[in-house]
Amino acid sequence: MTRRLGSGSLVIATHNSGKLKEISALLEPHGLKCLSAGSLGLPEPAETGTTFVENALIKARASAEASGIVALADDSGLSVQALDGRPGVYTADWAERQWFEGSAGRDWYMAMGKVEGMLSGQGPNVPRDAWFSCVLAIAWPDGESAVYEGRVNGALTWPPRGEMGFGYDPVFVPEGYEKTFAELDPAEKHAMSHRADAFKKLVAEQFG
Ligand code: IMP
Repeated sequence: MTRRLGSGSLVIATHNSGKLKEISALLEPHGLKCLSAGSLGLPEPAETGTTFVENALIKARASAEASGIVALADDSGLSVQALDGRPGVYTADWAERQWFEGSAGRDWYMAMGKVEGMLSGQGPNVPRDAWFSCVLAIAWPDGESAVYEGRVNGALTWPPRGEMGFGYDPVFVPEGYEKTFAELDPAEKHAMSHRADAFKKLVAEQFG
């Protein structure tokens, strides 16, 4: 049987305040007090895994070991079927502009263009299937862990459409919809996203 979180403190292994807010809002109603790895001064480990599960576990374990408190981490990204699942765990890296001196930072339009270039380079009839993944990993200080995997299937479109959301949202059309993630009402996206899917599984097993 999977170990349960119970109530008490939980470290959210992120230095991103947006993620901390979103995750805390989902978990605090279940009696957990969420603390951020950033506010505890915990180190940010290198994401050296080759799968979402490995990277989520690396982050959760690093925070649990350093703090002595149970920790939760997430890892997410976009996979394209015709690109053998790329960019996958390298989704954020494909947006890095570090090679232009003085313009470091992430450029999502460039990243979406790179994916589109690789896809359309395979010909006009290439399948455009893609999916977003989100893995949530819980690590206890004694080494035990649990993982929950969420996914939303869809297809890539070009050119990008919509102003809402972030990252690759403007080129992703979820299955059963005509709008991109960036054109959908954020509440609608959040109810059926890869992150929602992973959280539903976590909540069902941990608090069901
Ligand atoms: P990480 O999980 O913080 O490592 O982020 C992985 C990357 O995947 C993000 O920087 C985004 O580019 C992308 N990504 C993850 N979830 C979404 C989403 O819901 N919409 C658009 N892009 C996403």
